[in-house]
Amino acid sequence: MYRFRRLRRDGRIRSMMQETRLHPKDLIYPIFVIEGEQIRNPVDSMPGIFQYSVDCLDEILDRVKEAGIGGVMLFGIPARKDPQGSQAYASDGVTQRAVRYMKEHYPEIYIVVDICLCEYTSHGHCGMVCGEEILNDETLPYLVKMAVSLVEAGADMAAPSDMMDGRVAAIREGLDRAGFTQTPIMAYSAKFASAYYGPFRDAAHSAPGFGDRKSYQMDCANGQEALREIRADIEEGADIVMVKPALAYLDVLKEAALTFDMPLAVYNVSGEYAMVKAAAANGWIDERRIVLENLTAMKRAGAKIIITYHALEAAAWEKDR
Ligand code: PBG
Ligand code: ZN
Repeated sequence: MYRFRRLRRDGRIRSMMQETRLHPKDLIYPIFVIEGEQIRNPVDSMPGIFQYSVDCLDEILDRVKEAGIGGVMLFGIPARKDPQGSQAYASDGVTQRAVRYMKEHYPEIYIVVDICLCEYTSHGHCGMVCGEEILNDETLPYLVKMAVSLVEAGADMAAPSDMMDGRVAAIREGLDRAGFTQTPIMAYSAKFASAYYGPFRDAAHSAPGFGDRKSYQMDCANGQEALREIRADIEEGADIVMVKPALAYLDVLKEAALTFDMPLAVYNVSGEYAMVKAAAANGWIDERRIVLENLTAMKRAGAKIIITYHALEAAAWEKDR
């Protein structure tokens, strides 16, 4: 009989045998920045998450610094939306201003910017629209403009989440042409059309005005296609590839880790966060243990980077574990 339990006898040996370890530097914390002043709006479906105006960012950025996490991912909520999402690439857009503010006051924080138009378009879709059709090639130049304008403002990394075909190559070329050859791209490569994004769309005011996102985001039934999407983004020049959401897609993440020799990210999305917070608020689960178990599972499945709304709390819990 093999005695597995010899190596589980007490905390000292268990910790020596631990195969996967979370580190605060693995975590990226999403932040919602809203146009206006003196705004700190709680997001009802995401307890602990707020929309901040640029002048109120200090509170959360101080906590990010303190937590010692890897970085933040910015999502902007503009005051005005139009069919072309022009605030996404306006030099005085809310996200551009947030980036410039951070560069000046928090230069040590690594800034990832989400590249997508849905928070900025009046129809709420991630690209240009003609009738009921979401246009692919016509959208690419707008994504490029958005990426270049945010990197010009000081963003460290661009993360396209729109799921248009060819956007990684287009953004790479646009950044290179603007002189940003050293700015990495983290592609939301296998991004599924998911009900788990519900709370985010409240937080970011980005729900589609008609139809759904199924003509550009992936069918949750398709694991093989996810690998093709990831391969295409690698060929187009992505530096990091992502699977999103996380928990219901750990098989895809694991498969990607076994297939590609590339840094992988996973996005622990809003609905996953909301479910944990709701159950915890009812006293039905132990929040701290559940969160660390979920995040550890994501790393075990192959994620190098985890984008998560739990980042600040998890970093603190992991420190004193
Ligand atoms: C923008 C975007 C979304 C998320 C990240 N970037 C929403 C969507 O695609 O509808 C979801 C994040 C989350 O649910 O936490 N396209
Ligand atoms: Zn979008």
